Amino acid sequence: MSTAYENDQDRWNAVDGYVTELLVPADDALTAALAASEEAGLPPIAVAPNQGKLLHLLAVTQGARSILEIGTLGGYSTIWLARALPADGRLITLEYSPAHADVARANLAHAGLDTIAEVRTGAALDTLPKLEAEGAGPFDLVFIDADKVNNPHYVAWALKLTRPGSLIIVDNVVRGGKVATPHPDDPAITGTREMFDLIAREPRLDATAVQTVGTKGYDGLLIARVTE
Ligand code: SAH
Ligand code: DHB
Ligand code: MG
Repeated sequence: MSTAYENDQDRWNAVDGYVTELLVPADDALTAALAASEEAGLPPIAVAPNQGKLLHLLAVTQGARSILEIGTLGGYSTIWLARALPADGRLITLEYSPAHADVARANLAHAGLDTIAEVRTGAALDTLPKLEAEGAGPFDLVFIDADKVNNPHYVAWALKLTRPGSLIIVDNVVRGGKVATPHPDDPAITGTREMFDLIAREPRLDATAVQTVGTKGYDGLLIARVTE
């Protein structure tokens, strides 16, 4: 088969561009969120637009009224998720970096979502116990997208803060295929592999993971449902 593409990444970018132009129209709030994040020097690691739309559709399908996100960055995925909620819905997103949290708060305000979405600053392993102590949850959906080394802890916390029928989604679980082999020197891969082991052993979770390619490279997404 002949191809106009120099390499796989060019081909993946072209398909993401095709899909996104037709099905994922950008709007001012999303475009401004990415522009403000870049302007503030945040790393360009938000979910791709078509991935954000996938999160949105999953949250809508779930009928979610409450969402927990771990790893906010500039709030791009937060906007997609919060837009799935009804006017009286609630999203809490946890971010370690005060600078990232400030950018995200401004982006959420610009998107008109600051009454629905709240950014909490701090290491998630410190803020999650506070959420529990407040009696927050159960959340209908949890999106885990922070420091990958803590993925097993985040899934354990997600289990505590959800109910049967809730959805737990984890970003970046494939990392160019690295997940399939032990990488003792890469704590991110080790953490994600420990998370897979934990989920495999956990009768309260029914899960799968899929590999993805696109503008974010070769990676993947894990989806787990809390069983009845
Ligand atoms: N979900 C975002 C991207 C998140 S990038 C999006 O798709 O738009 C990962 C974020 O997790 C970064 O902002 C990083 O500062 C944050 N993070 C890293 N370690 C963390 C921790 N221990 N607790 C909470 N957030 C953390
Ligand atoms: C990284 C983190 C992410 O959440 C992501 O989607 C892509 C890359 C990173 O830390 O490199
Ligand atoms: Mg991610």
